[in-house]
Amino acid sequence: MGEPQKTFYLETFGCQMNVHDSEKVVGTLMAQGYRQVSTVEEAGLILYNTCSIRDKAEQKVFHRLADYKKLQAQGKKFGVLGCVAQQEGEKIFERAPHVSLVCGSASYRNLPQMLVQIEAQIGAGNCRVTGLDDRETDECFETEFTARTNPHRGYITIIEGCDKFCAYCVVPFTRGKERSRTSDSVLAEACQMADQGYSEVQLLGQNVNSYKDPAGKKSFAELLAAVGEVPGIKRVRFTTSHPRDFGRDIVAAIDSVPTLCDHVHLPVQSGSTRVLDAMQRLYTRDQYLERIAWMKAAKREISITTDIIVGFPGETEADFEQTLSLLDEVEYDGIFGFKYSPRPNTPSLKFEDAIPDEEKARRLSVLQEKQREIQRRRNERHLGQIAEVMVEGRNDARGQWIGRTSQNKVLNFKAPEGLTPVLGSYVPVVTTGCFPNSLLGQMVI
Ligand code: 5AD
Ligand code: SF4
Repeated sequence: MGEPQKTFYLETFGCQMNVHDSEKVVGTLMAQGYRQVSTVEEAGLILYNTCSIRDKAEQKVFHRLADYKKLQAQGKKFGVLGCVAQQEGEKIFERAPHVSLVCGSASYRNLPQMLVQIEAQIGAGNCRVTGLDDRETDECFETEFTARTNPHRGYITIIEGCDKFCAYCVVPFTRGKERSRTSDSVLAEACQMADQGYSEVQLLGQNVNSYKDPAGKKSFAELLAAVGEVPGIKRVRFTTSHPRDFGRDIVAAIDSVPTLCDHVHLPVQSGSTRVLDAMQRLYTRDQYLERIAWMKAAKREISITTDIIVGFPGETEADFEQTLSLLDEVEYDGIFGFKYSPRPNTPSLKFEDAIPDEEKARRLSVLQEKQREIQRRRNERHLGQIAEVMVEGRNDARGQWIGRTSQNKVLNFKAPEGLTPVLGSYVPVVTTGCFPNSLLGQMVI
């Protein structure tokens, strides 16, 4: 009889970087002979890839660890990966003594060795393995073993870490300094994905437009265009952009390469220059609006989305009004709004004039209600338009197919009788109805 197969369960919290890191972790574990299972009960090793961007996200992992603590008695091992691991480090062992592995994203390259260490200890009491010291590394987590979960659309990391140090943000502490991959290796991965049948790629980084090719061959806009020209690639997205480094050349690339999607996520955080200054965002409201104007002057209509934080320390009612007026001025197609959450190590942790939680909640709901109205109104412009959508799924209960436009809008549609759209294919759909967060349509043939 052979050895029982090693099994693991992995749950991911947080941003797309984390989702993609998890795909790499899964691939790495599988290459080590592990099999992924879908429940904690079936698994020998239970991993959480964590997020610490706001306190609420951070607490989730501790709830999970508490919920499953008793399973340690069955010999199961627990590991905490990602941003909470990096931020809290060995303190996690104190708070959750049943954890065996604590590893930040800059140390995933070393996961195979760490797993061997954990395995060596199985049955010999609880061991503690850490990977926390690599944030100064120049290396990215490049692996030949990425286990992508979607067969049509996939992520490619182009830059890791962040050097910006916005006053509220943990990312520079959890993900370390900026390091870019060579454009050659990014392009090789894009070509490989195209060969495997992927038609949509999303270039990822905390700050994609700070990208600096270590080989000095390509700027970010040039890399974007080159990925868009890889045969077989039909859609290229990128996230996230920082307004300070967002150059006109990116808009020019979108203008000249049709496969580059007409959607840009450009987090503004606040509409008040005073608050932007306190946040150390390195741009003013006017400079941000200048970038918006470049996009609005593009040949194709570019859909613009953003992130906004309400209730940053010292944010006055007048500052908040400025954020509201920015929504009117830009007319975003979507926003992600957040209540400011004080985070460890960050400069704003020490700022005075904290805004009470109820006031943050009030501002957030005013913001979201206003934006909902804008989206309700703006989505009407799509009525009667024909857009190409990628078929992403099926909603059986509604008898609808789920599609996504190049502008990143969900367009649910009906297909003509007897016609079954293929998942991952691109079909033309006319918009017949609209809601604040999605569109409704009919496939045209
Ligand atoms: N509190 C609230 N929101 C935050 N974000 C980042 N840090 C914080 C924080 N401390 C938001 C920003 C960022 C998004 C990913 O999360 O809007 O763009
Ligand atoms: Fe969360 Fe930021 Fe880490 Fe992503 S990089 S998982 S958003 S803390």
